[in-house]
Amino acid sequence: MINHQLVDGILKILLNRPEKKNAFTNAMYRELTQILSDGDKSPEVQVMLISGAGNAFSAGNDIADFMQSPVTHKDAPPINLLKVLAGLTKPLIAAVDGVAVGIGATLLFHCDLVYAQKDARFIFPFVSLGLVPEGAISLLLPRLVGHQRASEILLFGEPMSADDAKQIGFANKVITEPSALPYAELQAQKLTSLSFGSVLRTKSLLKDGALKTAVLNQIDIEGKLFIDRLHSPAAKEALTAFLEKRAPNFDGLD
Ligand code: COA
Repeated sequence: MINHQLVDGILKILLNRPEKKNAFTNAMYRELTQILSDGDKSPEVQVMLISGAGNAFSAGNDIADFMQSPVTHKDAPPINLLKVLAGLTKPLIAAVDGVAVGIGATLLFHCDLVYAQKDARFIFPFVSLGLVPEGAISLLLPRLVGHQRASEILLFGEPMSADDAKQIGFANKVITEPSALPYAELQAQKLTSLSFGSVLRTKSLLKDGALKTAVLNQIDIEGKLFIDRLHSPAAKEALTAFLEKRAPNFDGLD
């Protein structure tokens, strides 16, 4: 479900489950974590580039999977993936076409460059699912947009357009072509033509130190709360409602 291919120093990663909008199963988290860890260590890889198949980036965690094998511990596959993403030393570029939801959107906070096709939509539906944010976005989003705007984005979970994502600095560029991928590939090639040592050190200066420690710590704090909420009556109602294709009813539920 995840393809990868090394081309001229660029590790091209494709989330490939288009019939479910590239929603992540536990197996996909494990696969992607391994691909990224191996890519980060491989001397042949200079840049990594991630995109989704079939006009979607990713619809986030597979909701049926959430119910059948919920996250129960802090080393669960999604939490591991987020930590590996936060610790990458090589640049990771994302090309976003279509929807990026839940972890499909939060993982973008750990990418170094994000290119969004003009119809891309970023959705953070944690509260509407009875859950809490993850991937350290409760730390990284207010840092980007301030407390009030972050509250609005995270509490209401309304879709954010590609233009809005660019305006807040979350996306680097809005691509008007049918897909953001060709432009992202050009940018990846551009990176491979730069001094690799300078690129790596610049990423390290931007991300390492106190910030990385805080990010990893926040992933743990959020992860613990997320696991608690996943077992709450509200989350059960919201996830069941999605599978039953109806609106959730939170009346009387915590
Ligand atoms: N988990 C499981 N299946 C999912 C999914 C998810 N996260 N997201 C989409 N799908 C499935 C749909 O159930 C549908 O399957 P079906 O054809 O068997 O009915 C298929 O993927 C296509 O999705 P659909 O809802 O028809 O596409 P859309 O373009 O109308 O809407 C989304 C796309 C992503 C906005 C919508 O599917 C959605 O809200 N998904 C849930 C996202 C979510 O809450 N993720 C978890 C975050 S923690």
